[in-house]
Amino acid sequence: MPRTPDVIVPPKDYYIKQRTEGFSDWPFAFFRELFQNSVDAGARNIHITIGDVPGRGSFGRPARIGKAVRVSFTDDGTGMPQEVLRDVFFKPGRSTKTGGDTVGGFGTARVTLCFSQDGYRIHTGGCLVEGDGAEYDIMTVDEAAGAKREQIAEAELQAGAGRTAARIAEVEALLASRVTAAREAGNGAQADALGAQHDIELATLRAGEEEAARRIAQMRAELAEIESIRAPRKGARFDIDIDPQEGSDRYRWVSQARLRAALDDYLSLSQVPCKVFLDGQEVTTKALRGAKRRELVATMGDGSKRAFAAVHISGSERARHKGKVIVRVDGACMFTESLKMYLCLATE
Ligand SMILES: Nc1ncnc2c1ncn2[C@@H]1O[C@H](COP(=O)(O)OP(=O)(O)OP(=O)(O)O)[C@@H](O)[C@H]1O
Ligand SMILES: [Mg+2]
Repeated sequence: MPRTPDVIVPPKDYYIKQRTEGFSDWPFAFFRELFQNSVDAGARNIHITIGDVPGRGSFGRPARIGKAVRVSFTDDGTGMPQEVLRDVFFKPGRSTKTGGDTVGGFGTARVTLCFSQDGYRIHTGGCLVEGDGAEYDIMTVDEAAGAKREQIAEAELQAGAGRTAARIAEVEALLASRVTAAREAGNGAQADALGAQHDIELATLRAGEEEAARRIAQMRAELAEIESIRAPRKGARFDIDIDPQEGSDRYRWVSQARLRAALDDYLSLSQVPCKVFLDGQEVTTKALRGAKRRELVATMGDGSKRAFAAVHISGSERARHKGKVIVRVDGACMFTESLKMYLCLATE
């Protein structure tokens, strides 16, 4: 039998595991990576919203979760042309930051940001991406609108839109006639049992109808949003849905409040070189300016040296993170650790 080699496609659980076990504090890392990417892309303004939303499915499928926390993160940097989305962003391990004069670029952030979450949408340049774990679809705005219309038509067909109420009435009459027949045959106990069973069947039917209607309404809203796009987006917008009840021991309940706290924590440790807006209000939380204690220097491929990060110690009385060593790249906090830990190591 002719054999064709197969390709490994990591299941979503793999990405979830990488996120929950690979980071000591993933909500913090989530914002750090988003900021770092926007700063690297030369953004001057970043707009963030964080809100509770009903869960939504991707590709026309039903939602997996009832409620999600949606983080929308929009920057005005260079954005990603379609080739970068296709050949870099969706190829884990690849990066546009691997040139001879750049440092970092492990190309792993999207594992935390997108692939491991409940679902995501990306709008950059003239492209829209709909994604869920390792599954994604990169489309032009027109293609995205077309795909959404097809999904709505399919869902309406499945739900028998417009006919469902009539169908429920039909089933209700049929079930009632069975109960009546049992009662007339003098079989009261059977009539009661049938009645109870029929109530359950009808409730299931009604719930299915409500769920389908909710899903269709959600897809219509998404279509309206796509249809309102008038021009290519300079920069990138990520809409990421996070499951607040995802079952991992350390991160059960990644609520909206928890994400807001992680964002605040991140900003208070950084001097992000652009304006940041949260829910439309400019955020002024920033790390206090202090002298850098040392620079971290990398030796590049051609033997030249390049400073890529600054080490700060938060020591001032007013400092919120007093007693911490903070490593920043372009003002964005990349690493932080308690100073005590270093003193222990130094005296050992
Ligand atoms: N906001 C953005 N604007 C423009 N390009 C972006 C943005 N976010 C991600 N990218 C592109 O996607 C690529 C992958 O991003 P990712 O954060 O996963 O890795 P990286 O930034 O290259 O490396 P690192 O592991 O150091 O974060 C980037 O190299 C960049 O080309
Ligand atoms: Mg990155």
